[in-house]
Amino acid sequence: MVESSTFEIYRKTPEHVAGLREISALWRHEPGGFWTFDQVIGALQRPAVKLFFTSAPSENRWQAAVLADVGPYSADLLYIYVRPELRRTGIGRNAMENLFTWLSNNPGDQPGSAPKEELLLEVRLSNKPAIAMYESFGMSRVCVRKRYYADGEDGLVFKRKVKA
Ligand SMILES: CC(C)(COP(=O)(O)OP(=O)(O)OC[C@H]1O[C@@H](n2cnc3c(N)ncnc32)[C@H](O)[C@@H]1OP(=O)(O)O)[C@@H](O)C(=O)NCCC(=O)NCCS
Repeated sequence: MVESSTFEIYRKTPEHVAGLREISALWRHEPGGFWTFDQVIGALQRPAVKLFFTSAPSENRWQAAVLADVGPYSADLLYIYVRPELRRTGIGRNAMENLFTWLSNNPGDQPGSAPKEELLLEVRLSNKPAIAMYESFGMSRVCVRKRYYADGEDGLVFKRKVKA
């Protein structure tokens, strides 16, 4: 049974910076990797880019991180990452559920902007765990982007209404 975890938005406090630094060093080891700590910090200069993390009350390290680009009508999931030793325990699912809830409750930063209608994302064709997770959320395949990734792998685009 997983201890219920919090889902928080990154706020540039020393604790949050340390959490991001630690977890971003881990995800560099994933196949294909993801952005460095500095690249994520750079992306966060744009107000539309939001970083969320989950943590268990009894621990001070992040369990998972979610980076999203929240546009005026839709949002792009840029990355979701769960610590390897905690996978298959429902943390990824929990983070996705929280992201959908956040998107349906939070308007964008622009005056008058509405809650987001759609979530879109790209995933490597070889990433079976992530594809299974997105499909279990009822996300539908939109198209394949040939050689989308720098190493030549194809990307699969998924989308779903925020309110399914
Ligand atoms: C993809 C990822 C976030 C899933 O996180 P997780 O916490 O292990 O996922 P959960 O335990 O919540 O599982 C949710 C669902 O995803 C699917 N799933 C997750 N891992 C799976 C695997 N190894 N094989 C098959 N299905 C899998 C299942 O449908 C699962 O539901 P179920 O447990 O009821 O069968 C995690 O594997 C990860 O961090 N991978 C590395 C980073 C990455 O590739 N991110 C996606 C980039 S687009």
